[in-house]
Amino acid sequence: MSTFRLLVIALVFTVGLSTASADTVLITGANSGIGLEFAKQYAAAGWEVIATHRRRLAPDSLTKLARQYDNVSVETIDVTDPESIAATAAKLAGTPIDVLVNNAGIVGTFEDPRQKFGSLDYDLAQQFVAVNSTGPLRVSEAFYENVVASQQKKIVAISSLAGSLAVNSRKGLMPKGMTTRYWYNMSKAALNLTFTALAKDVAADGVSVGIYHPGLVRVERNASYRTTDEMKAVSVDVDVSVAALRQLIQELTPEVSGRFFSYTGTEVPW
Ligand SMILES: NC(=O)c1ccc[n+]([C@@H]2O[C@H](COP(=O)([O-])OP(=O)(O)OC[C@H]3O[C@@H](n4cnc5c(N)ncnc54)[C@H](OP(=O)(O)O)[C@@H]3O)[C@@H](O)[C@H]2O)c1
Repeated sequence: MSTFRLLVIALVFTVGLSTASADTVLITGANSGIGLEFAKQYAAAGWEVIATHRRRLAPDSLTKLARQYDNVSVETIDVTDPESIAATAAKLAGTPIDVLVNNAGIVGTFEDPRQKFGSLDYDLAQQFVAVNSTGPLRVSEAFYENVVASQQKKIVAISSLAGSLAVNSRKGLMPKGMTTRYWYNMSKAALNLTFTALAKDVAADGVSVGIYHPGLVRVERNASYRTTDEMKAVSVDVDVSVAALRQLIQELTPEVSGRFFSYTGTEVPW
């Protein structure tokens, strides 16, 4: 092959690389735990990452990540606040979003009496629903056109085993020590139900919906939680969980849309 031909091939390859647009992911609650790990791993893989948080000022974890990677931008989304969502949606109008990761969530401790029968705090229930159940729907509606305009067209919910009626009601399926946190479990069950509905409603647009249990993931928030041996035995490091979830998201197709999978790849009973 002539030198000229080799040069042309090299040029076409270089231009092709520089003009090919990278896939884009938007992550809610990206400043800590699982969300931050998603942002780090997608950034390292060369994706355009829109890492969102709900703080007044950008958290250090995200400013540091944006300094490290040109392909990370930091935006504000409080998933309970329609104005905050609308402002960022307006800013990103026309930007295709291949994967929308609804990760933001509140959890609470196993010991908190406000989530235990006999001392339930009903105001707190509203907060759980707003963040964990309706929040992901609000965000999915607001950024829907961005997802439809993308190549991959995927909406993801980071749910939990705690939202499974089957796991909660059958003996032996929930690791010992993981007692019911009423509002957390209720809000994740509601998330699961609404996202199965969402999967049906968006199918005609070619959008796929993934609902995932990330495992019992070791993150900063739960580092001081009291854990049983059974819980320790099933715990997973955040990088391992997120790498596995990214693989499942990669494999998400219309055929498996609306189903509930653990990060291990096994299907979680509803
Ligand atoms: N870790 C586990 O074992 C586990 C297991 C099953 C499911 N999950 C799910 O995984 C997701 C991430 O949890 P995590 O363990 O990584 O906990 P985390 O470190 O506490 O992360 C939660 C994230 O959600 C954000 N957030 C809370 N309320 C928000 C709001 N109104 N608007 C926007 N962002 C908000 C938090 O922001 P702030 O820092 O500002 O509070 C934080 O960035 C949650 O949905 C959780 O239910 C976790």
